[in-house]
Amino acid sequence: MTNRQLNREELLATLDWYAAAGVDIAVGETPVDRFAQSAVVPVTNPARRAVPAALQAQTPAAPPVLQANGPADADPGEARTLAASAPTLDALRAMLEDFDGCGLKLRATNLVFADGNPDAKVMLVGEAPGRDEDLEGRPFVGRSGQLLDRMLAAIGLDRGSVYIANTVPWRPPGNRTPSPSEVAVCLPFLYRQIELVAPKVLVALGGASASTLFETDTGITRLRGQWRDLTIGSHTMRAIATLHPAYLLRQPAAKRLAWQDLLSIRAALDS
Ligand code: URA
Repeated sequence: MTNRQLNREELLATLDWYAAAGVDIAVGETPVDRFAQSAVVPVTNPARRAVPAALQAQTPAAPPVLQANGPADADPGEARTLAASAPTLDALRAMLEDFDGCGLKLRATNLVFADGNPDAKVMLVGEAPGRDEDLEGRPFVGRSGQLLDRMLAAIGLDRGSVYIANTVPWRPPGNRTPSPSEVAVCLPFLYRQIELVAPKVLVALGGASASTLFETDTGITRLRGQWRDLTIGSHTMRAIATLHPAYLLRQPAAKRLAWQDLLSIRAALDS
């Protein structure tokens, strides 16, 4: 390791690297040199640690411990009461803009509420917004969104004839999986969103969305393609899970299975 100052390009590249790894929040006012700290070898008697004089002055108190999920997520019961009181999708969106009960919001750039037609007969639910969605504030606009658009076009659908949302409306830092408490506090809003859209057909995109909506631990390979009746609030609809477009980008051979699901969705819409 060298101690030379980084130039502007190197600093920007380092910031980019941190952002991609999900390190996008400062936890203290002053930078801490962890390399210098770890160079201090503890001796057996902790009362007699060899701390170099130069470090004694600069060694700060222990940094605040961040919970794995950042700030605590609110009680889902409160979210349920709040979400149930939204009379329209616009009111629900405004409510989420003001809602501070999910830690994901703190690090997200934008709320990613929905895209498409609120009067659509089919509603698709993904897992969570990624980087592109966070920047644009719209679901499925990145690479998997482009594939999703092509999948929809293959059965005569587009963003004017579907409605799209996610199980959580804020991007988890570094695209990590949303934690159970983040999903739990966002779920009442998604339920209300589904109730207000009242689609004929609900499609869970990928395993995470399917387990959340269908309340099951069964894996997506067994769940996909199976129709069920799903009741959310006052609305009952036909529901199906299919493979997530991001998975299909990694496993193109699985597109054959997704195609079967798409044909089945087309048939259900036409029935
Ligand atoms: N993947 C998702 O599950 N949702 C998005 O909005 C984008 C990618």
